Amino acid sequence: MRRAACVAVLALWGCGQVAGTQAGSGSAPKQYLTRDALLDPRICESCHANHFTDWSMSMHAAASSDPVFLAMNARGQRETHGALGSFCVQCHAPMALRDGMTTDGLNVGSLPFQYQGVTCFFCHSVSAVTGSNNAALQLSTDGMMRGEFNDPIANVAHASTYSPLHDAHESASASMCGSCHDVVVPETDAGIERTFYEWAHSAFSGSGGATCVSCHMTPSAVPMPIASVPGAPARISREHDFPAVDVPLAPSSADADAAVTPTSQVQQELGNGAIQGALCVTGPPGGSVRVILDAVGVGHKWPSGAAQDRRAWAEVIAYSAGAVIYQSGVVADGAAVTAVQGDPDLWLLRDCMSDAQGHLVNMFWQAATTEGNELPALATFSATDPRFYQTHIVQRFPRNGAKFAQMPDRVTLRVRLQPIGIDVLQDLIASQDLDAGILDAMPTYDVPLAGPTRPAQMEWTVQAAAALSYPADDGTIATCVATPDFNISSMLTLATNHTTCSP
Ligand code: HEC
Ligand code: HEC
Ligand code: HEC
Ligand code: HEC
Ligand code: HEC
Repeated sequence: MRRAACVAVLALWGCGQVAGTQAGSGSAPKQYLTRDALLDPRICESCHANHFTDWSMSMHAAASSDPVFLAMNARGQRETHGALGSFCVQCHAPMALRDGMTTDGLNVGSLPFQYQGVTCFFCHSVSAVTGSNNAALQLSTDGMMRGEFNDPIANVAHASTYSPLHDAHESASASMCGSCHDVVVPETDAGIERTFYEWAHSAFSGSGGATCVSCHMTPSAVPMPIASVPGAPARISREHDFPAVDVPLAPSSADADAAVTPTSQVQQELGNGAIQGALCVTGPPGGSVRVILDAVGVGHKWPSGAAQDRRAWAEVIAYSAGAVIYQSGVVADGAAVTAVQGDPDLWLLRDCMSDAQGHLVNMFWQAATTEGNELPALATFSATDPRFYQTHIVQRFPRNGAKFAQMPDRVTLRVRLQPIGIDVLQDLIASQDLDAGILDAMPTYDVPLAGPTRPAQMEWTVQAAAALSYPADDGTIATCVATPDFNISSMLTLATNHTTCSP
C-alpha cells in the first residue's frame, strides 16, 4: 500500500532523476549535495542531528574502529596468509570496501571518518537484498536516501524515496539488516552468527511478529520533525543507537574527544523484560535447584549474533544459615568464565566452534563446525500450541540429579553476560594482537530480568516461594520464585539437556 502511494508522490518530485538535480515543486532544478558529501555522516548531522548523535553511540559507528575488531581482523589476515581478504570489512566497513579504500581492512584505522563503520549513506542507499547472509546488499547509484516515508518533503541535500527495506512494518527490512547479521564462513559453510536465520525461523517473522527495526530502533514517543529545516512536519522518528549487548571499547571516531560510551546506557535500553524465568528448590530431603529461563522478549536466540565470542551463564548460590552450601557459575567480574575449575554444573550459553579435527577453536576463520546451546527464540505466539513452552529451558543444579546434604534457606540467581568473553580477549592478547588494557574495559553484566523493577537478581526463600510450586522431575514438589506471570507448570514439557562446550 505505502509503496503504491510512494510511487505517485515521487513521480511529482521527479524520483527518476539522475543524482545531482532536483526538479522539485515547480522551482528551477537545484544541485543536491555530491555523493562525496553524502558519504559523510557529519553532513547528515547538520539536518538530522538526533540521528547522528544516536548513531555515534552505536556499534555501527564503532564497527571498524573497535579495537577487538581490528585485532581479530589483523590476526585473521596473518593466520590465513591474507586469504581472509575483504571478508570482515564487507560488513564492518562496507563503504570503504565498495569505494576501493581498503581490501583487507588492515588500513581501516587510518581511513577518513566517512569510511569508518556502517554509515548513514550505506544503510540509506541499499536498494536490493540479494542474499540472506554475508552482506549481500546492492547499493543504488541514484543518490536518493531511502526511508519509511512515502511523502518526504523536498530538501536541498538529497532526493528521498520510500523503501520497504527501510520500513519497520515490512519484513523486507529484516532481510536488509539480516544480510549483515548472518555470517557464514564461505569455505566451510560454518554458520557463525545466525541472528537473521534465527529470527526467520521464529514466531517473530510471522504475523503478529516484529522486525529487527521494531525492537532495535525505538520509535519516538511523540511525533517531531525528523529534519531541522523550516516546514518539516512532525513524524514518528526512530532512535539510531541500535542497543543490544555489545559496547564500543574505544571512543568511536565520531566523537574522539568524548569518553567511552557509558557502557550500560545503550545495553540497558533493551534489557527490559528480555529474559523471564523462575528459580525453584525441589523438596526435601536434601533439595536441589532448578533454574528456568525463557528469552521471551528476544526476536532470535539469546545470546545471538557473535555468540561464539559472547559468554552468558547462570550464577546460582545456595545458603543455609548464612553459609554457602552450594554454588555454580561464580565468576569474578572481569574473569574468564571458561577458566572456572571444578564446576560440572556450570550453565554456560554460547556457540562452540571446532576445527575439522574436532578441536575447540576461538577464532571463526578456524571453524569448520559450530554448535550452540543458546536460549531458543519463541516458535509460536499461541499458548495452546505445545511449541509455545519449548522455549522454557530448565537446568538442574546439580545437573546429575544429586541432592544437597541439607535444604537451603536462601538461593540467589543472576544471569551474567560478557559481550565478548574474557577468554577470547586473552587469546587475542596472547597472540599480541590486542592491548591487555582492554580487559578492564570489558563489562560483566547482570542481565536485567523481566518485571517492573528489572531486577538484577532473583532470590528464593521459603517464604517468598510459598505461593508457587510444581511437581519437579525428582518426584518432589519444587517451590519457586518467578518473574511476573511466568507459567511454571508449563515447564513439564521442557527440554533439559543443555551442555557446556567441552573439548
Ligand atoms: C539540508 C538538510 C538535510 C541534510 C544535510 C540531509 N537531510 Fe535527510 N532529509 C531532510 C529533509 C528535509 C527530509 C524530509 C523530512 C520530512 O519529510 O519530514 C529528509 C529525509 C530523509 C530521510 C527519509 C526519507 C523517506 O522518504 O523516508 C532519510 C532516510 C534521510 N533524510 C537521510 C539522510 C542522510 C543519510 C543524510 C546524510 C547523507 C541526510 N539525510 C542529509 C534534510 C536533510
Ligand atoms: C544500520 C542501518 C542504518 C544506519 C547506519 C542509519 N540508519 Fe537511518 N534508518 C534506518 C532504518 C531501517 C530506518 C527506518 C525506520 C522505520 O521503519 O521507522 C531509518 C530511518 C531514518 C530516518 C527517517 C526518520 C526516522 O527517524 O525514522 C532518517 C532521517 C535517518 N534514518 C537518518 C539517518 C542518519 C542521519 C544516519 C547516520 C547518522 C542514519 N540514519 C544511519 C537504518 C539506518
Ligand atoms: C553493513 C552491514 C550491516 C547492516 C546492513 C546492519 N548491521 Fe547491525 N551491525 C553490523 C556490524 C558489523 C555490527 C557490529 C559492530 C561491532 O561490534 O564491531 C552491528 C551491530 C549491530 C547491533 C549491536 C549488536 C550488539 O551486540 O550490541 C545491533 C542491535 C544492530 N547491529 C542492529 C541492526 C539493525 C536493526 C539493522 C537494520 C536496520 C542493521 N543492524 C543493519 C553490520 C550491519
Ligand atoms: C522482539 C524484539 C526483537 C526482535 C524482533 C529482534 N531483536 Fe535483536 N535483540 C532483542 C533483545 C531484547 C536483545 C537482547 C538484549 C540484552 O541481552 O539485553 C537482542 C539482541 C540482539 C543482538 C545482540 C546479540 C546478543 O547476543 O543478544 C543483535 C546483534 C541483534 N539483537 C540483532 C537483531 C537483528 C539483526 C534482528 C532481525 C533479524 C533482531 N535483532 C530482531 C530484541 C529483538
Ligand atoms: C556478514 C557480515 C559480517 C562479517 C563477514 C563479519 N562480521 Fe563481525 N560482526 C557482524 C555483526 C552483524 C556483528 C554484531 C553481532 C553481535 O554483536 O552480536 C559483528 C560483531 C563483531 C565483533 C564484536 C562482537 C564480538 O563479540 O566479537 C567483532 C570483534 C567482529 N565482528 C570481528 C569480525 C572479524 C574479525 C571478521 C572477519 C574474520 C568479521 N567480524 C566478519 C557482521 C559481520
